[in-house]
Amino acid sequence: MAQYEKFDYDVLVIGAGGAGLRAAIEASAANVSVGLICKSLLGKAHTVMAEGGMAAAMANVDERDNWKVHFADTMRGGQYINNYRMAQLHAQEAPSRVRELEEWGAVFDRTKDSGLISQRNFGGHKFPRLAHVGDRTGLELIRTLQDHGIHQGIEVHMEHTVASLLKDGDRVTGAVAYDRERGRFKLFQAKAVVLATGGTGRAFKITSNSWEYTGDGHALAYEAGADLIDMECIQFHPTGMVWPLSVRGILVTEGVRGEGGILRNSEGKRFMFDDIPDLYKHQTADNEEEGWRYTQNDREARRPPELLTRDHVARCIMREVRDGRGSPHGGVYLDIAWIKERLPNAEEHIKRKLPSMYHQFKQLANVDITKEVMEVGPTTHYTMGGIKVDADSQMSAVPGLFAAGECAAGLHGANRLGGNSLSDLVVFGKRAGEYAANFAQEKGSGTVDEGQVEQVINRALAPLGREGGELPYAIQAELQEKMQDLVGIVRREEEMQQVLGIVAELKERAAHVSAPGNREYNPGWHTAIDLDNLLTVSEAIALSAIERKESRGGHFREDYPDKDAAHFANVNVRVRKGEDGRMQVDQVPMAELPEDLQAIIDEESK
Ligand code: FUM
Repeated sequence: MAQYEKFDYDVLVIGAGGAGLRAAIEASAANVSVGLICKSLLGKAHTVMAEGGMAAAMANVDERDNWKVHFADTMRGGQYINNYRMAQLHAQEAPSRVRELEEWGAVFDRTKDSGLISQRNFGGHKFPRLAHVGDRTGLELIRTLQDHGIHQGIEVHMEHTVASLLKDGDRVTGAVAYDRERGRFKLFQAKAVVLATGGTGRAFKITSNSWEYTGDGHALAYEAGADLIDMECIQFHPTGMVWPLSVRGILVTEGVRGEGGILRNSEGKRFMFDDIPDLYKHQTADNEEEGWRYTQNDREARRPPELLTRDHVARCIMREVRDGRGSPHGGVYLDIAWIKERLPNAEEHIKRKLPSMYHQFKQLANVDITKEVMEVGPTTHYTMGGIKVDADSQMSAVPGLFAAGECAAGLHGANRLGGNSLSDLVVFGKRAGEYAANFAQEKGSGTVDEGQVEQVINRALAPLGREGGELPYAIQAELQEKMQDLVGIVRREEEMQQVLGIVAELKERAAHVSAPGNREYNPGWHTAIDLDNLLTVSEAIALSAIERKESRGGHFREDYPDKDAAHFANVNVRVRKGEDGRMQVDQVPMAELPEDLQAIIDEESK
């Protein structure tokens, strides 16, 4: 008989980044008991890596901004396969969530004249919209939510990994997890469960994502019978560090470009002026002077091409590198030091607005960004696809199972605008917490089948007991390498088909891995368990990417380089577990956009 400790909560939240913390706060404010599980230490969530700010149409810097413009920007950025209702709720509710954070103690940068929360420019946002704290906004968000949450009686289980969700018939009834330090198992019985586990970036070799991002929530939901949509839509952030190799992929915030940073190739050319998509031509400057004036909030000026959407900027960088105009380590140059030509106090300005970037480059690359250029290139940053949820409640197809933040899908469509992630976390984290608490109060407890728990534990322990098997690390590295090369920024049918074969073979090898040692402090064992999730999400990404035979947002196919409005403009690609246990993919038609929202989009496209 397997040994495990038992806990019983009304609402169990899995993940303690911005979405998980905000969900836990909301649920516990509704007077239900809340357990919060996190894979890392509380406060160390990947949310801290969202640096440049949170988008909310507060109109503090430009009073022409409002939720309608934010809604239209988000839909355009997502190339119109977003869930329109989520985009509407997000744009409408983000300002209140920012003000609430301020009431709870977040210390945002202020505008000079009026002392309001300051807002900066970011790619794809028509007006300066990102409330920020220098380039440490995610950290401030987590710190604030954590301070607020711990006074509400939420019980936190740090450094735990969830091995499986539990079900009673259709509905979810809890989860089985183990503590990563000692390897002890715990049964969490719960009336409702909120997944807030973040993304899948660790399925790729070059990523800005932290070690926790192994697609756990996506895989748990998939195994429990939820649908995943738009898994092909992966965001490659244009600017990650490329050198030294040991730090390749670490994020270089878009805030650098928001503050006036420009991109140049090895010939010194500002190449982003070469290719401006039709969709954005009317909003984009065609000369250096106008671009600079925009960053200084000149209302007449159009934005610089470096602030086009991330999918486009990343591809332009790839083109420069491919055509032999890249930097020595396979990137291009990002230059913020040039603003000295325009601003008398430029050095101080850079250090004040971009303190983390200054230290990151000084300490990791010995580059002083106030004087020298940075070498940057695309890095896997964000998973737009994920668990399909109801827009208002955030409940998945599995009754009692909710999802919020990056592991949920819909808001961002085919490409997320920078800064929309932090506001996504608090808008939909709050909603998930509220509706999960309602569900728990209305539906009460389900039954936990102890046989299911026993099975989960035995399966999780298998790599420890197995002798002579391969270690999991090589399989993980091979998967990351192949995903990067064959399902990366530029995709082709044959290569992705190849990946499906590789994933099948790696799954077979993963089923026989060994993790020598015992349960305590055993990273090999943790990797073996994470590996199953990585393989599940990699298969989902490749299958979905094959299914969408067009290019849209973050999903770019060399064999179908254009958008195919006739076949793919109004569909989400869906992945689910078939009755035979195999992954199935199909297309689901999207709901028609209501007239009032279509009118907003039409108006904003002029
Ligand atoms: O570039 C950044 O600071 C990242 C922000 C985001 O992904 O929202």
